[in-house]
Amino acid sequence: MFQIIERRMIVPNLHELVVEAPDIAQAAQPGNFIIVRPDEYGERTPLSVADWDREAGTVTSIFMQVGGSTAKLARLKPGDSMPSCAGPLGKDTEIENFGTVLCVGGCYGIGSLYPVACALKEAGNKVYTLLEGRSSYLLYWQDRFAEVSERVIEVTRDGTAGYKGHISRLAEILTLEKIQPDLIIVNGCTFLMMKTSKVTEPMGCKTIVNMNPIMIDGTGMCGVCRLTVAGKMKFACVDGPDFNGHEVDWEEFLKRRQTYNPEEVHPLRKSGCASHF
Ligand code: FES
Repeated sequence: MFQIIERRMIVPNLHELVVEAPDIAQAAQPGNFIIVRPDEYGERTPLSVADWDREAGTVTSIFMQVGGSTAKLARLKPGDSMPSCAGPLGKDTEIENFGTVLCVGGCYGIGSLYPVACALKEAGNKVYTLLEGRSSYLLYWQDRFAEVSERVIEVTRDGTAGYKGHISRLAEILTLEKIQPDLIIVNGCTFLMMKTSKVTEPMGCKTIVNMNPIMIDGTGMCGVCRLTVAGKMKFACVDGPDFNGHEVDWEEFLKRRQTYNPEEVHPLRKSGCASHF
């Protein structure tokens, strides 16, 4: 059993989960994920790793409550425990001195972007962070990113913080901020990663996305996480989760990602537990 050290809502519908898992904490690297089950009957849920404490033996993830299993996770309290927590899984994010790197994060991806930004800074990169959300109250960890970034840029759809609009303004924002990235790394929802990749392709700037498909085993056995990258079939859990965003077949990915929406979200809606969807 894996003990819950902390579980709290950090912004509406996004939760921080800290689990005692010493072996995972020892081995975790930026870009990795874990697979948890909230209880004996819960499905296996992949969560990107957002932080770890090797001394305390804890691993932190940020997750969004979207369906039945994440609703169960969102009810966990410190002192509760989960029957399984497997990881770290997936390849590490490639970290080297690329020069100037723009880290783009949104939603739960802001969490998993944090260790990436830290490692890039440590490798000698000039790191800029761009956080994107519907409104300022949905952004978090700006202070953490400020410690490892030249600048933290905010983009909100309602204009309550930073630039008003969407990531589609990225080219214009980079010009205004006088940033010429050698690499862009995006962690967040599928739409953020897809839209960023579409904007950066004409700019010719390599863009790495941290894919978040439906997963079961997380070890390359079931094939559920398959996606097409550069015309070839890949398994996100063992070949990724990081891929070149310009090579991902986004249309196919979106379709596969939404396969179980009716089973996951609609029962919650009917029960009144998911009024925000
Ligand atoms: Fe089963 Fe990737 S989750 S092959």
